[in-house]
Amino acid sequence: MRRGIRLTIKGGGLALLLASQAAQAQARNGAKRTSARPAPSNAQLAASALNRRVEALLNQMTLEEKAGQLAQYSVGTPTGPGTGRSDYETLVRTGATGSLLNVVGAQETNRYQRIAVEQSRLKIPLLFGFDVIHGYRTTMPIPLGMAASFDPALVEQAMRMAGAEAAAEGIRWAFSPMVDIARDVRWGRVAEGSGEDPFLGAAMARAYVRGYQGASLAEPTSVAASVKHFAGYGAAEGGRDYNTVDMSEVSLRQVYLPPFQAAIEEGSATLMSAFHSLNGVPATAHPHLLTDILRKEWGFNGFVVSDWTAVAELVNHGIALDGPAAANKALSAGVDMDMESHLYGPEVPRLVRAGKLRETVVDEAVRRVLRVKFALGLFEKPFVDETAAAYVATPEKRELARRMAEESIVLLENEGGVLPLPPSGRKIALVGPLADAPVDMLGVWSAMGDPRDVVTLRAALEQRLKDDKEALRYAKGTDVLSEDTSGFQEAVVAAASSDVVIAALGEDTSMSGEASSRTRIDLPGNQRQLLAALAATGKPVILIVFSGRPLALTDARPHAAAIVQAWQPGLEAGHALTNLLWGEVDFSARLPISFPRSLGQVPLYYNHFNTGRPAGQTDLTHPPTSSAEKYVSRYLDERNTPLYPFGHGLSYTPFDFSPPTLGAASLQARAVQKQGGEVMRVKTRVRNAGRVQGTVVAQLYLRILGASTAQPVRQLAGFQRVALAPGESRELEFTLGFKELSFLDASALRGVEPGTRYELWVGDGSRATPHASFTME
Ligand code: BGC
Repeated sequence: MRRGIRLTIKGGGLALLLASQAAQAQARNGAKRTSARPAPSNAQLAASALNRRVEALLNQMTLEEKAGQLAQYSVGTPTGPGTGRSDYETLVRTGATGSLLNVVGAQETNRYQRIAVEQSRLKIPLLFGFDVIHGYRTTMPIPLGMAASFDPALVEQAMRMAGAEAAAEGIRWAFSPMVDIARDVRWGRVAEGSGEDPFLGAAMARAYVRGYQGASLAEPTSVAASVKHFAGYGAAEGGRDYNTVDMSEVSLRQVYLPPFQAAIEEGSATLMSAFHSLNGVPATAHPHLLTDILRKEWGFNGFVVSDWTAVAELVNHGIALDGPAAANKALSAGVDMDMESHLYGPEVPRLVRAGKLRETVVDEAVRRVLRVKFALGLFEKPFVDETAAAYVATPEKRELARRMAEESIVLLENEGGVLPLPPSGRKIALVGPLADAPVDMLGVWSAMGDPRDVVTLRAALEQRLKDDKEALRYAKGTDVLSEDTSGFQEAVVAAASSDVVIAALGEDTSMSGEASSRTRIDLPGNQRQLLAALAATGKPVILIVFSGRPLALTDARPHAAAIVQAWQPGLEAGHALTNLLWGEVDFSARLPISFPRSLGQVPLYYNHFNTGRPAGQTDLTHPPTSSAEKYVSRYLDERNTPLYPFGHGLSYTPFDFSPPTLGAASLQARAVQKQGGEVMRVKTRVRNAGRVQGTVVAQLYLRILGASTAQPVRQLAGFQRVALAPGESRELEFTLGFKELSFLDASALRGVEPGTRYELWVGDGSRATPHASFTME
């Protein structure tokens, strides 16, 4: 009845080159074998030519040179606890390193590359890596914001540009996408991922990989992706970064692994292991993750890099007595390259000579690294053009950054239609510490983004209102994390003498991202008091929240007529926001993560289990007033629902959805399980029921009942962005196949089960009501 996780590797670059390994894995995973051998494809031929080059090189390498290919060092601004040294040129010249990170600029990468390919014995080119996370020079919104677009095609385009900008400076490796599912908003790294949903996360993971790697890694504009941090890192205990994770194999595979698997299927050339321990074993020495699942099940043929000093940290975890033992454990478990622990380089040869590590293990890791270098064309073209014109944020680049920002900014509230603002005639007070804060618009991991290229909200408003000197009053009011109220007065005066207030509040860049977990998630410092003071003027307040995570906006809400979640929107922050505020572009973004009412609700996510005593999705009173309200899974002192659920977001126009119609009343489990098997077609009609043009994210959710294991109350199974003119309607079709319909049984095997019922909902958000159901026979 059940079948193992199916393997289908597609996409460009390395995946194609390694198609023969993928085919073998497919056969192992139960795909049909045919007796007659098919003729080798072009991809297979390319793969064998590449493998021959790898073997030829490997045969010439000393043990030290092999270890060197597995050792990566950071040169330049460190992105973790300092471990610096000063002999990088010697390391490169002697073949003691194969990869550097944090080197920027064409001249610098070329300088090191020249040493590698002209002065080292084997002339193996260096691979330069960098945290290209949401842009290289042209900074897009943070990944959580980009996920809110529900627009993988645009994300792909944005990341294509990011990769090309990095590649132009010799950086052919992006440490991205971060695909860690995050359900605890205390964790600062929620900013770097695509939110709480595995289906959306998988779609985004694919988009990033396609963008970075293009049709072929060998294109000079392509960079190798590094999907990270494998795996379960987002579930860190208490939201404390780097902390322990303990979870069932079912949760791991159902919730946390799908985006990783999607990235691998899409051909991600590399993968980064994580810092934490998963079920007692540090992820950087986790044979089950790194070998059983990644290599054997998924057929991954790229290489694995550790996270920053994560190999050395195995000693802190307590599973290695010293550095050499840590190196041995990590490499043996499947970590091919050591980032910044400075261990593989010196220790691997010693371990082999002492008979503690087999040289074949080392050889295999070296092969994986060399394959990626060959696939990137580094041997043919190690240098980049230093005379290329310096970076300019051209109108084309800005346009992409602006569109990405426009599609990422979510309208949470719009009471009485305060938005859009009328074209003219309104006096606006712009208040808040984030109205004119370029660095905070760039956001976490902004790579080489330059604050001087940022258009802040203040700059965009000044530009827009330049013909009317009286139209804009600006006052900062307070700082992000301050108790000083001396700026309130000026802000209140500005508000009182205007028609509408725009309050730009939230977190600064340093408050989310790595090592930036927080125990408070409401508006920081005295910003809520400032907001209350502004509201007390009686003028409608449009609250714009800049943050790297969902904040608890419960106390802020009563003071705002409209709430706009802007994340950290990147280079074109101001233009994107003003276009949206004036209604020249519709708000089309939807939340990729739930917004809690208060921190005590965390972890909070829409795709939870029902429990035996569910609190349900409608608001219960608190404290409870009846036993029916009391004896359910809830808190006494808080509502049961989030403030804003996953998938929520308003447009400038309402949309209605017809109840979904199904291609069949039932499916046959046996037929669904077959390769390319039976699917359910779901149709619905969506209509723009308002008077202006708008864009909606049509979302399809499902729930599986009667299965051998409990399944989430709802889970996203499809989405489409649809732009509609007023009154226009369109029929949409979703296809549910094995991937969407299957789930894990108690032994973590994926399949579908007869006798189950599938409930479906379509609409604009995870609370959608139009409904249909079918059975699995
Ligand atoms: C982070 C990674 C990052 C690496 C290199 C680490 O501290 O966890 O996400 O890619 O540094 O900068």
